[in-house]
Amino acid sequence: MFPNPKDTILHEFQKLKEEVKKRKIAIELEVAAEYYADESFEKLLYKGNLLSFGKEDYLLFELSYFTKPQDLESMIYEIQKAGYTPVLAHPERYTYFHDSIDNYKRLKEVTDVLFQLNIVSIANYYSKQIAKIAKGLIDAGLIDFMGSDTHKKRHTTYLKQTLSDTYYKKSLRKNVILNNKLL
Ligand SMILES: [Fe+2]
Repeated sequence: MFPNPKDTILHEFQKLKEEVKKRKIAIELEVAAEYYADESFEKLLYKGNLLSFGKEDYLLFELSYFTKPQDLESMIYEIQKAGYTPVLAHPERYTYFHDSIDNYKRLKEVTDVLFQLNIVSIANYYSKQIAKIAKGLIDAGLIDFMGSDTHKKRHTTYLKQTLSDTYYKKSLRKNVILNNKLL
């Protein structure tokens, strides 16, 4: 639904950097993308034309929220074979995993995939059920990266709320979070 070719993203990123410089905002910026794992993604993967991040070439990908892909394990394997370290975006949002936290444990055991939590999930941004799963993942120590999911101003209210939530603090204690390793 949202094609995000590398050239377009890099072009817009350049414009953002220029604007930030012009306004003298002290912030370090990097760019990557979140890929919806469909057929066009597989084509991109084989071409090696993807925007990854960090020294480990982390590749952020997401799935359908409601329909589990039949070949999820092999798709993750293909990402690894292409030389990337797969990071599943917002695992807490996939309804077909919700019946047990063990589904997540199993997926990590079988594939070594990493998980990036949308931290606003903790503060009930999406739903109570998603908040419950997010907390379950934190308790089980299954989170590797934290993402803000800040697309618009409305998200910043939830982000502030999240930062003072006890579960946010717990997430940092009970999980090995890799965000700081990217600096
Ligand atoms: Fe997403």
